[in-house]
Amino acid sequence: MIPVCEPLINNNELNNVMDCVKSNWVSSMGKYIEVFEEGFSHYCGCKYGISTTSGTTALHLALAVLNIGPGDEVIVPTFTMAATVFAILYTGAKPVFVDSEPDTWNINPFKIEEKITNKTKVILPVHIYGHPCDMNLINSLAKKYNLFVIEDAAEAHGAEYFGRKAGSLSDIGCFSFYANKIITTGEGGMIVTNNEEFARKARLLKNLAFLPEKRFVHLDIGYNYRMTNIQAAIGVAQLEKIDYLVEARRRNAKMYINLLSEQPGITLPIELENVKNVYWMFGILLTDRSGTTRNSLMSELRKRGIETRTFFYPIHSQPAIKDMGYTPNESFPVADSLAERGLYLPSGSGLTAEQIAYVCDTVKEINYLYE
Ligand SMILES: Cc1ncc(COP(=O)(O)O)c(C=O)c1O
Repeated sequence: MIPVCEPLINNNELNNVMDCVKSNWVSSMGKYIEVFEEGFSHYCGCKYGISTTSGTTALHLALAVLNIGPGDEVIVPTFTMAATVFAILYTGAKPVFVDSEPDTWNINPFKIEEKITNKTKVILPVHIYGHPCDMNLINSLAKKYNLFVIEDAAEAHGAEYFGRKAGSLSDIGCFSFYANKIITTGEGGMIVTNNEEFARKARLLKNLAFLPEKRFVHLDIGYNYRMTNIQAAIGVAQLEKIDYLVEARRRNAKMYINLLSEQPGITLPIELENVKNVYWMFGILLTDRSGTTRNSLMSELRKRGIETRTFFYPIHSQPAIKDMGYTPNESFPVADSLAERGLYLPSGSGLTAEQIAYVCDTVKEINYLYE
């Protein structure tokens, strides 16, 4: 089976992990944490990096740093992974959903302003599948209405917008290092920022708000969102090859695009001008002109040894959310249609040219067979 995504882990990760184990630095203190935080934040072009246990906790921590809570509203795309919205719900704030752009699949920046109220505190764009959002428009709206911006850059390690890295384009950027991400620590996450006060507060809150001057005294309610030294040790080794891993994603995408561009009924991902898409996952959409449907294409591919995934199901339609009353009488036609028609093909940085050629030949064959 060609997996939809696999991490690339080798001896460097193993040696670093052995170092932690042999030296007994297995918990959240130890040399790798700082090296990883400094290395990754520097890679993103940010002064500060604060590691966490996951992308989900990075998002929650970012919102907590900005004091977001009950009575506040956070603007977010409905087409995203559930964690983006769950993190908002953990704070007691209300998620306010916005539909997507049909071409980048990101939050539609032209539909944000109509959702801003006097309760809005944050805009939380998500760089879906590695294509940066239109941050100039989003940041100018935030400035106009005095709002914070948090980027969910979980899927966009190394992506760029006008030459600047995703995660560095707003008040706080949030990353995930889950095993399918471009670099991984197994589980893990990080927030990056250029704001010293946000960094100080994030460090405090992620460590149960132990007062630095007086241990076991707590002025705030904190969380245990501490990454372990073992996770950071893997992250340090991954960071050494991040340029290779990003370029491999882009090379794979180029090959997919070359081989599939003439296919009737298949829409491919795009890369807008002044943007670097890292194609975290190589998503495609089936249009009405396709010879098959999304679900039958997926099951036929599986029969031929190719693993795929559907696109996200929009959050407004999730059973856990839809009865909460956040979207009365609202529709999100673009997000709904992406969810219905989208799938992603194998996308790991370790894919070979032969594997991609096989996937494309198989997609064409199925598309043709069912035409
Ligand atoms: C857009 C987005 N946000 C947040 C997350 C959550 O990250 P984690 O799984 O590390 O908690 C993910 C994970 O896939 C994601 O894709």
